[in-house]
Amino acid sequence: MKRRKVILDVDTGSDDAVAIMLAARSEELEILGITVTWGNRPVENCTENTLRVLKLLGKEKEIPVYKGCPQPMVRYLTRQRNAALKTDGISIQKDGKEYSVHPALLNLPPSEMEPQKTHACAYLVETLLNAEEKITLIAVGPYTNVGMALRMEPGIKEHIEEIVLMGGAVNMGNITPCAEANFYHDPEAAKIILDSGIPCRIVGLNATHSAELNLDDARILREQGTAECQFVAELIETRIEALKQMGTGNGYSDAIHDALAVASVIDPAVIEKEVRCRCDVDINGGAADGELITDKRLGYEADDRVKTRVALKGSKEKFFALLLERLGEKKNGSHVR
Ligand code: RIB
Ligand code: CA
Repeated sequence: MKRRKVILDVDTGSDDAVAIMLAARSEELEILGITVTWGNRPVENCTENTLRVLKLLGKEKEIPVYKGCPQPMVRYLTRQRNAALKTDGISIQKDGKEYSVHPALLNLPPSEMEPQKTHACAYLVETLLNAEEKITLIAVGPYTNVGMALRMEPGIKEHIEEIVLMGGAVNMGNITPCAEANFYHDPEAAKIILDSGIPCRIVGLNATHSAELNLDDARILREQGTAECQFVAELIETRIEALKQMGTGNGYSDAIHDALAVASVIDPAVIEKEVRCRCDVDINGGAADGELITDKRLGYEADDRVKTRVALKGSKEKFFALLLERLGEKKNGSHVR
């Protein structure tokens, strides 16, 4: 089987952890490296979390991890842009207990590995410039590393097959009424990517929330008996409980955003509806800061000069079946905890 060469850019993170597990257990993908950005937590935590997940998979010596940028390209230079945020959107303290969608450190044994010495952006530039075949980037955190690498060496775009972005939303938001977190946290980086002309597929909130996993799915995952499935079940339950405590969840289901983005690279059929349209992002610092702007005027669907596609609907059934197939019981039992 010809394996697709990919680099994951993550801010691990609960759903990032599921995305990494799914990618690493899928033969269709050859993970060249994982670059880590700030986002759900400081980049140091996200890096350690990434290493922990790879340790769970027994792949910490196989897949190199590169620590990247600790903050967005420019948005913290414009302080008023952050004043609107009343919470970090991921945690709440209640009766002395913290409930978090993304625990600061994932509930896994600490890693004994260090990230590579090379900075994530330098790694992206170096690897892409020297690539003999095009590489797909799957970016599921704020896009600082990818945006920065494109600024450092625009020539890398000739070596990128496609960028799959988890982020954005059409007429939806999670961190603000109209912006999704990955776009909101570094909208300038998102703009650099969208303006680059590189083919992009955007797997945003419309798709991820149409393919939510729930507490019954978590129970089925637990029954699989593998360490991966048990950890995914724990992450799903943790997310659902945290959102319920924060008053933003339904207490039964939630989107596992980043894993759907990875799933769409393994099996495009997990996306049931996708449109081709020109995309932009608001970087003006107002109420719509970080909002994905999709130009849905007539004509774009047929215009193959437009290189951006936006997923609008996912298939929960296909997504969950893929997770079960890839993370479930291995014949040799080597992943049973
Ligand atoms: O809005 C969802 C995205 O924000 C996911 O990538 C999640 O991990 C957080 O980074
Ligand atoms: Ca993420």
